[in-house]
Amino acid sequence: MPEKNVPADYSEMDPLEAKRFDKMVRENFMPAVISTVKQLVEDYGVLEGIGIDIGCGTAIFAVELCRHSKLKIHALEKEKAIYQVACSNIENEGLTDRIIPVLGDANDLPFDSEFADFIISRGAYHCWEDKVQVFKEIYRVLKKEGIGFVGGGFGRYVTEEELNRMKNLRDHSLKEGAKAYSSPETIKEVISKVGISNFCILDDPAGYWAEIKK
Ligand SMILES: C[S@@+](CC[C@H](N)C(=O)[O-])C[C@H]1O[C@@H](n2cnc3c(N)ncnc32)[C@H](O)[C@@H]1O
Repeated sequence: MPEKNVPADYSEMDPLEAKRFDKMVRENFMPAVISTVKQLVEDYGVLEGIGIDIGCGTAIFAVELCRHSKLKIHALEKEKAIYQVACSNIENEGLTDRIIPVLGDANDLPFDSEFADFIISRGAYHCWEDKVQVFKEIYRVLKKEGIGFVGGGFGRYVTEEELNRMKNLRDHSLKEGAKAYSSPETIKEVISKVGISNFCILDDPAGYWAEIKK
């Protein structure tokens, strides 16, 4: 039997492929979504204000974050077919008043400066050709005292078994792209190049996150 793969050529997706991507993320990565949101609530309390989820995919993470926070979340996605599935997921969950889908590019965020209290990007960092530019944008759009959270961690509440299964599937699906999540060295360099000094790397067995404070 061929090894299972989650579609990872986002720009190639047609509507059917985008629905398949959504189904596979739900079937395989929900423990990471739940665990990461739990970690955020544990570390930051109940988040409120304006949130942005960059590279939100089909908004599965944004929905979970919305249910455990008071944020109004702008869920930004670059690929039209994926964005359209995000729109229907948000509608089906009855969350159109709390999650605003945005078709846009992380390189040129369609938001005013100092707009957001909390910016998260989960599992999209490996796609960014110009990582420095995206971090410049994140920093520009963050409010003073705002928090940015970027990475591909699975969240510290996953079991070892879940972690190994999801990590293997992620690495097999992303191929070369998975290297971006194997060590935080590059992300540290990128953030330093932008001139952001108030940041730290949260590195644990379930994967690293870069936390930026403005
Ligand atoms: C692996 S998916 C992660 C989806 C979601 N964040 C999650 O945690 O399930 C990466 C997503 O980032 C999107 N993406 C990649 N580069 C982007 C960019 N420059 N601007 C906006 N979205 C982007 C892709 O189209 C894809 O939907």
